[in-house]
Amino acid sequence: MKIICTNDYDKMSERAAEIVLKAIAKKKCLLGLATGSTPVGMYERLTRLYREGRADFRHVQSVNLDEYISLPPSHEQSYRYFMQSHLFDHINIDPKNTHLPSGTASPEAECRRYEDLLKSLGRIDLQVLGLGHNGHIGFNEPGEIFVKETHIVDLTESTILANARFFSRPEEVPRRAITMGIRSIMQARTVLVLVSGRGKAEIVKRAFTGDVTPRVPASVLQLHPNVILIGDKEALSEL
Ligand code: F6R
Repeated sequence: MKIICTNDYDKMSERAAEIVLKAIAKKKCLLGLATGSTPVGMYERLTRLYREGRADFRHVQSVNLDEYISLPPSHEQSYRYFMQSHLFDHINIDPKNTHLPSGTASPEAECRRYEDLLKSLGRIDLQVLGLGHNGHIGFNEPGEIFVKETHIVDLTESTILANARFFSRPEEVPRRAITMGIRSIMQARTVLVLVSGRGKAEIVKRAFTGDVTPRVPASVLQLHPNVILIGDKEALSEL
């Protein structure tokens, strides 16, 4: 694993955007993308690089990790809305090449459709990940096993609480989501994990130096041959 420690969030975002830029410079690139607050600065920089003529997304396809069940794309807290407003609406990616699970389709059928889609697209070239306080990646929550395929998750209370900051009332946070499974993440050629802030320091330590266990889903990344962990010094302070 390669660890890049930066002074602050801005530098973390800048370094992450540089890595994405390099990946999309290839003729064809399948990007795995994350939502949440951590990658927002990276998306801002990618948008700026596009405006400056230094990033070209014409040959990029993207697959996102997850989506809340029940939220339509027009809902401001849906992950489709997040991706449109933070990235897709500002760059030259073909809308047909941007993929997320649908929050409004029948969940079981949607899991099958998304898994088939992931299989048909092949290995992800660069998978961007944030890290949940409980060690989740995508919405692969702590459990007894690593779930390989796209699946429905009951979000844990801690995840619901963490995400409540984006909703006007905690009761509005959806209780279920669809997430990409561990297999697609582990098959990615490169995994780029972004972490920021003191609040992530403890879980960073557990995930990357503790036991490999489905109780800390991100710990599985210790078995991946090509992980880049970029964090500001607060987030990496316990390593
Ligand atoms: C989002 C996702 C989640 C987040 C994680 C960290 O698509 O898959 O795993 O990456 O919850 O969220 P933030 O960045 O808000 O701390």
